[in-house]
Amino acid sequence: MNAPERLFAPPAALDRAVFAARRRALADIVGTEGAVIVPANREQPRNRDVHFPFRQDSDFWYLTGFPEPDAIAVFLPGREAGELVLFVRPRDPEREIWDGRRHGTEGAREHFGADEAHTLDAFDAQLPGLLAGRRNVHVQLGDRPELDARITACVQRMREMSRRGPAAPEALLGLDASLHELRLIKSAAEVAHMRFAARVSAAAHIAAMRAVAPGVQEWQLAAEIHAVLARHDMEPGYGSIVAAGANACVLHYVENRAEVGTDDLVLIDAGGEYHGYTADITRTFPAGGRYGAEQAAVYDIVLAAQQAAIDTVRAGTPVADMHEAATRVLTQGMVDLGWLSGDVDGLIEQGEQRRYFMHGTGHWLGMDVHDVGRYRVDGDSRPFAAGMVTTVEPGLYVPPDDERVDARWRGIGIRIEDDVLVTDGEPDVLTGDVPKTREAVEALIASARG
Ligand code: GLY
Ligand code: MN
Ligand code: MN
Repeated sequence: MNAPERLFAPPAALDRAVFAARRRALADIVGTEGAVIVPANREQPRNRDVHFPFRQDSDFWYLTGFPEPDAIAVFLPGREAGELVLFVRPRDPEREIWDGRRHGTEGAREHFGADEAHTLDAFDAQLPGLLAGRRNVHVQLGDRPELDARITACVQRMREMSRRGPAAPEALLGLDASLHELRLIKSAAEVAHMRFAARVSAAAHIAAMRAVAPGVQEWQLAAEIHAVLARHDMEPGYGSIVAAGANACVLHYVENRAEVGTDDLVLIDAGGEYHGYTADITRTFPAGGRYGAEQAAVYDIVLAAQQAAIDTVRAGTPVADMHEAATRVLTQGMVDLGWLSGDVDGLIEQGEQRRYFMHGTGHWLGMDVHDVGRYRVDGDSRPFAAGMVTTVEPGLYVPPDDERVDARWRGIGIRIEDDVLVTDGEPDVLTGDVPKTREAVEALIASARG
């Protein structure tokens, strides 16, 4: 049997040089007085001998490329004996028969650029020596309380010994101002990964749109999405939302167990991850092939809000302007439809629009769907800069039991979401391949029905 063709050529893999360059950039930020400690993810048991599929921690992956669970990276800029120290699971022929090959300390040095590698059981004994002379320890406190406790116990031991030995570190700092600033700005190689994830995810949405019909099950549409992803060595970057009718008013609806009704809109929020980089796309389309009058009226407001918001995604514009732009268009629309009454500025000041638009307009996107990166710096909304990727995803949702609006609006939930790369020029919509205007969506569905 022939394997199904890939629709697009995948980008070049990220090689060792990429990870080394990231560590150089991190060294420039934290300096030789800093140490960075980043743990890998743990395997999560599902039941008895079965684990949930393993996904590496994004910070750890970004810094090391090392794929195994449980490891810990200690990065020490300027250390003469070597900057990257990896603590990894030991080789174990018996376990490797069951669970697969482990790289061990040798593999960590040979293939992942570790200057020094130890097995995990050596971590507590080695750490005081590694932190000697380091003033700051950069670690994302709270993410892994048991690791935090081991680090603070180490600092405490060093303090007790400091009359005879090296000074203990003075401060524990998070990663937001260091590693996460690097992750926020995507390199050309990262953009290539995101573009690929976006294009395949767009094709997946198109497959679901083509498959929609009254009577289909939400999970069958999810299957259309996931099949396209799987054929491109991808998996969902987050739980896929396939929400028919009023299910769309549940923002993180992931049950996907209902039948699609004749007059339903179907909201699909799904995106695939390619080698660590995810897309995040939402489209809302009619099961019957044509938007009804009320659905069309709401749709056009959400689309206008999204276009206004995308237009703010330009280097130098404060990030908060994106939400403001969407909020203004949506609130005006809610007034026009008779859902709210009053003057738009006053309504926004009172937060009245949150009744039907209760989430933000976008978030950083990258290795995580809600990616790292600060939105405000020193109290102010930061400006967009080239290389950032944000989602733009306004929506309107009228709960089915909302008695404050006319019955004909109830149960309508619409979101439109694209992924936008900030450039030095126009906003670059990575996910633009999925039809978005009502006319284009209806034409696609009609063409699928012949
Ligand atoms: N898919 C989750 C979100 O759009 O934020
Ligand atoms: Mn999103
Ligand atoms: Mn989404």
